Amino acid sequence: MKANIALMLSVLVCIFAYLYDPKTCRSCVRALLEYIKGGREQSVDIPKVKVFTREELSNYKGEDGGNVYLALLGNVYDVTRGKRHYGPGGGYSFFSGIDGSAAYVTGEFNEKGLVDDISNLSNQDILGLEEWKSFYENDYTFVGIVEGSFYNKDGEVRDMMRTYKKKLEAAKLEKDLISSDKQLFPPCNSEWSQNKGGRVWCSKKSGGVARDWVGVPRMYYTVGSSKPRCACVRTSGPPSYDLESKSHNDRGDLDNPNLNLYPSCHTESISCPLPKF
Ligand code: HEM
Repeated sequence: MKANIALMLSVLVCIFAYLYDPKTCRSCVRALLEYIKGGREQSVDIPKVKVFTREELSNYKGEDGGNVYLALLGNVYDVTRGKRHYGPGGGYSFFSGIDGSAAYVTGEFNEKGLVDDISNLSNQDILGLEEWKSFYENDYTFVGIVEGSFYNKDGEVRDMMRTYKKKLEAAKLEKDLISSDKQLFPPCNSEWSQNKGGRVWCSKKSGGVARDWVGVPRMYYTVGSSKPRCACVRTSGPPSYDLESKSHNDRGDLDNPNLNLYPSCHTESISCPLPKF
């Protein structure tokens, strides 16, 4: 659209140039011709993606020495190189010739599970599927798309693809939230033995989070979880929800209402015995 407007304006400028100064007109026309030629050169033919029908795809199971194809999230990959897994008699031959996306994360390798309906999968499952997608993209060759829940017979995306993308966004957001929650409230170290029972404690590296403070163990109640987890909590400085605060009590996150002291643990202790149930 923008290119068309630019072209029309250029033609108008040329007409005016011709009326007032034919010399300017010649350079104007040359520029216009170059613009049109340049525009043509920029247009490239986008290769058409092959759309397999389900029946067509089902012919690629590696029988009689043929190629093996499988589909994940509607994308078809040539996995002939991995024939020992996907070919006849291979441990994962049930994936070949179909789109069995859901089974990659449910592990239900039967007729009910080997389907391309991902609408009931959790956000965690969707992240798992995304990892499988990267795996096939890196290790095998993309050869097209298949008509099914993700694409129609003309290769246009269907609602399942939109559902997948929405779930993926939510899953990534959830992962980011969990990761920043872990930074603010790092999980504690823990141990358990028959004689001594359980114990949780904090150190400058716990729960995979390295930091320059140790903290004290607290029972941390997170949203959406019925059980608390052990979190190491900062005991000085401003609270995490207002790090810029100038008028804080220098108690870190100790006053956070989602935290509870472990029974029979001292307020300032960096190690707490776990209650016996
Ligand atoms: C949801 C569950 C699982 C799924 C969807 C799955 C899927 C797969 C797939 C697709 C391959 C072939 C990868 C390739 O193309 O190179 C594979 C390979 C393999 N899987 Fe699984 N798998 C699952 C669980 C397991 C479990 C529980 C074990 C072991 C206890 C296992 C052991 C293996 C081994 C040993 C290979 C072969 C690796 C190689 O030779 O390169 N898998 N798996």
